[in-house]
Amino acid sequence: MVSFIVHGGAWDIPDELVDAHRQGVARAMQIGWDILSHGGSGVDAVEKAINYLEDDPTFDAGRGSFVNAAGEIELDASIMNGTTFRCGAVAAVQNIRYPISLARLVMDKSEHVLLAGKGAVQFGAENGVQQCSSNDLLVGRELERWKDLLAQKNYSTKDAFQKKKSLPSDTVGCVALDAAGILVAGTSTGGTPNKYPGRVGDSPMIGCGTYADSAIGGVSCTGWGEAIIKVVLAKTIVGLLEVNGGDTQAAADEGIYRLEKKVEGFGGVIVLNSQGIPAFSYNTPRMARAYRTTAMSDACIDV
Ligand code: GLY
Repeated sequence: MVSFIVHGGAWDIPDELVDAHRQGVARAMQIGWDILSHGGSGVDAVEKAINYLEDDPTFDAGRGSFVNAAGEIELDASIMNGTTFRCGAVAAVQNIRYPISLARLVMDKSEHVLLAGKGAVQFGAENGVQQCSSNDLLVGRELERWKDLLAQKNYSTKDAFQKKKSLPSDTVGCVALDAAGILVAGTSTGGTPNKYPGRVGDSPMIGCGTYADSAIGGVSCTGWGEAIIKVVLAKTIVGLLEVNGGDTQAAADEGIYRLEKKVEGFGGVIVLNSQGIPAFSYNTPRMARAYRTTAMSDACIDV
């Protein structure tokens, strides 16, 4: 049994962007599925599928990411192997084309879990990851958004989520169950628009935006990071799975319920249990997602 689930953000995705989101998660799904269905590793499936989404300017990850208040792009990512419990994460890194690959390097080649800023970039350079230019990551849509937000004196991410529920939140992520029974979760993001320089969200925090335990389940989150961190959402959902008999839909729904009830948070989650049963849940108007298991003849894709 192999299984793969991918998300491309949970927010009020406008009608005109629905097709691009659908195509993006469908392609990422296919990349992950091709690796898993040919006996490849969950780590490879998660990394390569996220690399595709980091390249697709539709999403707030890699190229196409939001710009921070200083006019820079700072990226966060993490990956976790649920069998070895090895994990790697990078936070607030600049000029890195594929943050999830740098997070994997931290997991594979360092004794640490999370490297931030210049140290993470230096570690990448020592291991063959060269910095890209800002223009490799910046797209016109986000330059315009940054200018618009700068002109708004009192712009606040908290207000954007809680009052309008209309903040773009295109973080990407995947969870894979490979043929060896290993659950792997990964998440990559440009964070939130106009964030304070150095701001780090849930995505690189193990247990918040990403978690995997091959005996129980794996989770990747998207949405308002400050709220997701407060309820340690990914690990909370794995904890719920551990005591509810592995009911992925119930755990995902309860996680999102707690996110909203306890901290007025908004976002979405994707989940696999140890048997590869998928589920997703979100409290935003839309969430881009795709999933497939060995029991399915094709992927289920929706926005
Ligand atoms: N969930 C992504 C972020 O808040 O940075």
